[in-house]
Amino acid sequence: MNALVRMPGMSPACLAGLLLLSFFAVLEPGRADPPSVMVTICKRAPIETLSPSGGVIGVTEATVGARYTLVSVQGSKVMLQDSSGTRYLIALDCTDCPPPPPPPIPALTNRAPQLAAAPTVTVSNPQPITPGEIWPDDRGKHIQAHGGGIIKVGDTYYWFGEDRSQDNPPGIPVVACYASKDLAHWQFRNQVEKADDPAHLGPGWLLERPKVFYNAGTKRYVMYVHIDDKDYRLANVGVFICNTIDGDYQFVKNFRPLNHESRDIGQFIDDDGSAYLISEGRPLGFHIYKLSDDFMSIDRDMHLFPKEQGGNLEGGALVHYNGLYYVVGSHMTGWNPNPNVYATASNLEGPWSEFKDIAPPEKKTYGSQSTFLLKVTGSKTTSVIFMGDWWKPSAQWDSRYLWMPLEIGDGKLWLPEPKEWTLDAGTGEAQVGSNNSLK
Ligand code: GAL
Repeated sequence: MNALVRMPGMSPACLAGLLLLSFFAVLEPGRADPPSVMVTICKRAPIETLSPSGGVIGVTEATVGARYTLVSVQGSKVMLQDSSGTRYLIALDCTDCPPPPPPPIPALTNRAPQLAAAPTVTVSNPQPITPGEIWPDDRGKHIQAHGGGIIKVGDTYYWFGEDRSQDNPPGIPVVACYASKDLAHWQFRNQVEKADDPAHLGPGWLLERPKVFYNAGTKRYVMYVHIDDKDYRLANVGVFICNTIDGDYQFVKNFRPLNHESRDIGQFIDDDGSAYLISEGRPLGFHIYKLSDDFMSIDRDMHLFPKEQGGNLEGGALVHYNGLYYVVGSHMTGWNPNPNVYATASNLEGPWSEFKDIAPPEKKTYGSQSTFLLKVTGSKTTSVIFMGDWWKPSAQWDSRYLWMPLEIGDGKLWLPEPKEWTLDAGTGEAQVGSNNSLK
């Protein structure tokens, strides 16, 4: 791209054609590998991430200045490839740039961001994950993603949660989004939801436990939240949508799933891409709801854990691991910790096992409350990470995170004592150190 001089008035299509010509003209007969032609993103625009088979698996906003290898021109779009081999589609006129600006230099913090313009991260010396400590983002600010959940798009994890920063506008619950390739270095992306009472619930209205799903059919990101009035009496889910993962989400509606009360929600995406909400539904119990094909409504109640049989639970989380479903939940003690429990089943409809403790009950989940189970499948192994919130009710902005790799398999699940640990997101290997991190 740098070698080409753009003629005044040359259209993006001409330029891309010229690029392709130069791409093929330099091919020598019999030579297998063509020289790569680099292009640079020059506009903020949606960029589609492609799976190895060519399907669209996510849409994000392209990073201006990012450079990619040009693969082909496809109508009004170009196919690009990054250094890890992942391919993307973006509108043609977003890549006909004059010489690229230098990539942004990330601020130096003790958790330096790994999401600079070129989307590659090699974690040869993984950063420790320290339960209970302050976790600074790329700006050096403690991550605000409480009661959160994570989805992976391409090779990037996106963490959404309650942003309880002290300097947020009073009375407006905010949802923040962060991105990471290794689950240890987090880049702040956006306060993706900060609407002023979109469901008209009055002063003190609440929005908690946001969870984001990507719907490949509609190509939309769909965010579910627990939305409520100040007294937690409405017990609704709220639905927001966005065309990009970290854009500004728009409110769509709020309702009670199949007319059941719903407070804490959790999220689960099965291996076939179907999406589920886990919902605390007193007075009946704890539900697993399947979402409709477009994820905009509830399809059906897969299972109710009746409260009389231990289903008086919230903070729900679910993972499918080695052929078994494991559901985790917390008892209902507000912000105070309690012994979280789990049950297993071969099918989401059940039958489910009895609930058992995930850690010594007297430890009360080491002071935390479940919010999500994250499966990290790497080249060597699969780790399942327990994500818990260590709430500080009188200083919520300072609430901490307790993440630990679980001991899981053959129907057993155990949360080890919190210690500093490392994850190799490439191989999936988690290594627990010896330092007890909870002071
Ligand atoms: C907890 C719940 C939190 C929040 C809190 C309010 O039980 O898990 O998400 O709603 O109660 O007291």
